[in-house]
This record gives sequence, C-alpha cells and structure tokens, in this order.
Amino acid sequence: MTAPSRTSLDGVLVTERDVWRDGPPHELFSQMRAQCPVHWTDRVTEFPGEAGFWSVTTWDGIHAVSRDFETYSSERGGITSLTDAIMPLDLQRSMFIAMDPPKHDRLKALFQRGFTPKRIAAHEDAIRSIVVDVLDRLEGRATCDLVDDVAQPVVARVIGSFMGIPPEDDAVWARLMTAIMAAGDPDITPGGPESVMQRDVPELFRRCGELMAARRESPTDDLTSVLVHAEVDGERLEDHEIVMGFFLLMAAGNDSTKATYCSGMRALMEHPGERAKLLADPSLIPSAVEESLRMFPAFAHFRRTATRDTELQGQPIREGDKVVLWYSSSNRDESRYEEPDRFDVTRSPEHQAFGAGGRHYCLGTALARLELRALFEETLRRFPAMELEGPAQWVESPFVSQLKTLPVRLEGGAAVP
Ligand code: HEM
Repeated sequence: MTAPSRTSLDGVLVTERDVWRDGPPHELFSQMRAQCPVHWTDRVTEFPGEAGFWSVTTWDGIHAVSRDFETYSSERGGITSLTDAIMPLDLQRSMFIAMDPPKHDRLKALFQRGFTPKRIAAHEDAIRSIVVDVLDRLEGRATCDLVDDVAQPVVARVIGSFMGIPPEDDAVWARLMTAIMAAGDPDITPGGPESVMQRDVPELFRRCGELMAARRESPTDDLTSVLVHAEVDGERLEDHEIVMGFFLLMAAGNDSTKATYCSGMRALMEHPGERAKLLADPSLIPSAVEESLRMFPAFAHFRRTATRDTELQGQPIREGDKVVLWYSSSNRDESRYEEPDRFDVTRSPEHQAFGAGGRHYCLGTALARLELRALFEETLRRFPAMELEGPAQWVESPFVSQLKTLPVRLEGGAAVP
C-alpha cells in the first residue's frame, strides 16, 4: 500500500460544527477535490467515541462507491458519519436505507410501485391544491418565513396524506421529524443532541404505535397500512421495523423537499435575472428544479462502511472504515460542470442530490420533483416579486443541508418584468 501524499488539508476536520455554520463549505470541498479527493478526517470533536472517516468528494468517486454495495455497506456501520452518537445503530438498521441486499431490496420493493412517475402524477391535482391552500393563508400579510409558513406546511401535508396522518397532527409530526434530522442545531434541539434519544424518539414510537394499532384494526390504502401488513419472506415486520420504516418515509418526505424549495427560492431572489427567465417562460421551471437540487442537495452526505480492504481513486481503504459521500461537493465537481457555483435555471443538469444510482437511489424522486415544480410554479405565479427580508439562517448540520429561517417580503418592491 502507498502512503497518501501530504497536503495542506491534512488535519482538517470536515464535520466540525463551525465548518457548517453558514451552510456547506464549498471552498473547502473545492480544495479537497483538487488536492485530495479521498480525504481522511481523524476525529469528530463533539463525539469523541466516534471514529474518523474518509470523505469522497468527486462525482466519479461517489458514483463508484454507490454502485458497489458489496464493498461499501449501508448496513454495517449506519448511514451518517456518526455511527451511533445520535441514533443507535440497531435502530438505524431497522430502516431499509440502512440495510444491504437482499433484505433491502425486498422491503424497498413494497413501496416502489406506488412511487413511479406515473403513479405519482395521479397526485398532481391534490398536491397543487395543498400548495394553493397554504399560499392562500398568506393573504393580507406583507412578510412571512418561507420555511415555516410555506415549505413546512406543504411538505408535511403531502407526506402526511401518503402516510395517513390527520391534518391536525401535521405540525407535531413536522416538529418531531425536524428535531431528529437536525439534531445538534442549538435552536432546533436546545436540549442538545442527546435530547433526541431521550425525548423525540420515544415520542415517535408512542405516536406511531397509536397509528399502527388503528391500521391493524382497520387497514386503509395509506403507506402505514402497507408497513403494518407487509410480509417479507413470509414474516410480518417487527414493531420497531414498522416504526422506523414509517420514520424513514416521513423524514425523507418532510425534510428534503422543504430544504430544496427554500434554497432554490432564495437563489431565485438573489438572482432576479434567473427568476425573470422563469417568469417569462414557466416551461423552464423543471430545469430550475434540477439546478436547485444540484446546487443545494438536501442531504450533504450519506455514508457507507468498507466490508473489505480496498482502494478508491488510489487511496487504500481498510475493512471497517467509514466512507462518507459528500453530495454537496460532487454536485459542484468542476470536471463535470462549467462554472459549478453559478446558478443557471437553463442548465437542466444531471446531479447526485438523490444519490448516485445503485441500490439506495432515492425512492421519492418523482414525488419530490412534482412537489417542487408545483411549489415553484404557484409561488412564482402568486408572488412574482418576492424579496429577501433579512438574513436566512442555515441549520447547523453536516448532514441535513437546509435553511431554518428564510424571511421574505411577499410583494417585494422591485418592478415585475
Ligand atoms: C428533494 C427531495 C429529496 C432528496 C434531495 C432526497 C435525497 C435522497 C438521497 C441522497 C438518498 C440516497 C441515500 C444513499 O445513497 O444512501 C435518498 C434515499 C431515499 N429517499 Fe429521498 N430524497 C428526497 C425526497 C424524498 C421523498 C419525497 C421521499 C418519499 C417518501 C424519499 C424517500 C427516500 C427513501 C425511502 C430512500 C431510501 C432508498 C433506499 O435506501 O433504497 N425521498 N433520498
């Protein structure tokens, strides 16, 4: 094995909270891609019990790892850079995102039929009317917070309707999902990351247990009923597998679409010339959605664990090592994109925001794309001159990459082209 060459990036600790205070560290990632595309971080200061990890930062590197589930397991060590500092590994492994084939494939297959573009397209009217309803509630207001007042209620109702949650419970579920996903952010989990396991996860189990009991008694056509009645190899899922399956769908549905909408809307307000293109030609909106997914992937990373000694882009990796895939970096890989930091609504790019293919490619792509298109279309139609009103704030997290506040002035002051 060859020793890695030394670079100025030796000793850099990629997941430290300070590095993420203002969103993903794009300059650091650009240096990593250029100097050391598979980079070693020695430790996580906040969680001394956690081992260090390899960072994979290029498009090609992430592509290679994602398609080789035999060498890079999602099950062995969990799915984020932290093995069990926030959520115990056993609990993570009850979700199919943290399983390897064949069990992963069998569980995912239960849902895949319902998430095809064709099946999802049948929900377009319902989703659009949720968006319109939420925008209607802004009537008479001059300002709002796009995260709390638009994105959150829309995504919570859309995924809530798939899961069979009554609308009056949306807010409480949204709070729970955000707390678990953004654990560690001082505003979202003021009790510290440990409060997630002490308070939020038990509440998830209690509430989900009530829903499971209801669906066992009288099944409906929602996804909670699918989980409760699912059989894999002739056996029903265990209760904790049902709860965590429910959590996976709810969390993925809530957090990521909200993140992409808000980051994309902020970019449009910061680049009025790009917004003018969409107002003049709304058929560009699907391209703007893809560009928002590329530039602002809602999950900064997911993680694999090496199942054997191997080599990645010339870097030896040992069995058991953590391998972290930085989508926030690969989506701006200059070998792939011209001017990767430029927001260009006409680019219609391929990207890795939904993963890089392979077994764990996002289940919800069609739903996310439809929701985002409806959100962009209706928001631009209703508030074409919306402006930023004060600074937006990022969630402090190296995992979920999203804004926690985005204050806007709804009618704006600028002339509409
Ligand atoms: C903008 C929106 C979204 C983004 C950026 C996103 C991103 C991702 C990514 C990066 C992965 C792959 C993880 C890996 O490689 O390990 C993933 C997996 C997944 N996503 Fe999404 N997602 C989005 C929306 C949704 C929605 C709306 C759902 C619907 C319920 C969903 C459900 C899932 C599920 C179940 C998985 C696990 C798939 C597997 O392990 O086979 N996602 N998502």
